[in-house]
Amino acid sequence: MVRCPAFRPTILSAALLACLPLLAHAAPAAAPTTPPVPPHQKWSFEGPLGQFDQKSLQRGFIVFNEICSSCHGMRSVTYHDLLGIGLSRQAMTDLAHAKQIAGPPDAAGHPTMRPGLPDDTLRSPFSSEAAAAAMMGGVAPPDQSRLAAIEPHGADWLYAFLTGYHMPAPPGAPVVPGKFYNDWADGHLVSMPPPLMDGAVDFPDGTPATVAQQARDVTSFLVWASDPHRNDRHRIGLYVFAYLSGLLMLAIAWKRKIWKRARHRNAQDTHD
Ligand code: HEC
Repeated sequence: MVRCPAFRPTILSAALLACLPLLAHAAPAAAPTTPPVPPHQKWSFEGPLGQFDQKSLQRGFIVFNEICSSCHGMRSVTYHDLLGIGLSRQAMTDLAHAKQIAGPPDAAGHPTMRPGLPDDTLRSPFSSEAAAAAMMGGVAPPDQSRLAAIEPHGADWLYAFLTGYHMPAPPGAPVVPGKFYNDWADGHLVSMPPPLMDGAVDFPDGTPATVAQQARDVTSFLVWASDPHRNDRHRIGLYVFAYLSGLLMLAIAWKRKIWKRARHRNAQDTHD
């Protein structure tokens, strides 16, 4: 009993002493500047009740399919998943069928190709990461399945990045062959050439295909790809909220009724 209070400060000071080197290390680690926060854009899918705009997702898929997919894969999304952005079953099957995918080797061991199937994923066009890196000046294009989830400020950053190229680079910026200047790339240099150009795709719904519009739509599509069930989840959340609110109202009404009766009886009892 007597030893206990003396023992505690010893542990405390030992712990503090042990932490000192950690604190000394922590100070310089805080020194590097935090990356700038990209300007916030309004997105239909943000917030607890946000919903994806299917028209935007469909335009975003056109941008992905016609531009990004020539370098990037999306291996956690299958053609079948695209029903989720409102593609018809026929359009989805046709899309898959139009892709040529490596099949099993034939009897003589030669590589074969087969048309894509709904269960195939949106693969990278390169046979391997190393082949991709070799073709792209040493850096392989990352898989796009989780891009929007990995980046902090996912959608805002993607939009800022896709619209953040400067060609030519601003005066005084370092020029590195095979690298492009982008306000939002790490160190302002990135191995991806500016992928978007005004009018590079056609949107069947008549929306003008400016760089900003393509960037918005493909960003929405990338966010959808990283969280395809958000609409359902938010809708279920809304139902659950409405149901629980209903229950709460019933409980309040019931409680009032019971108490009213109890008070009434109480008043009667005191009269008697
Ligand atoms: C010509 C090939 C090519 C095309 C087309 C292309 N990319 Fe890339 N992308 C790359 C390469 C290579 C990298 C890796 C760059 C690096 O890390 O320096 C990359 C990286 C990225 C990154 C990550 C950048 C970072 O700094 O983390 C994003 C986001 C991206 N691409 C989005 C897109 C989108 C969206 C499209 C379609 C609109 C697209 N890319 C089209 C080659 C391409």
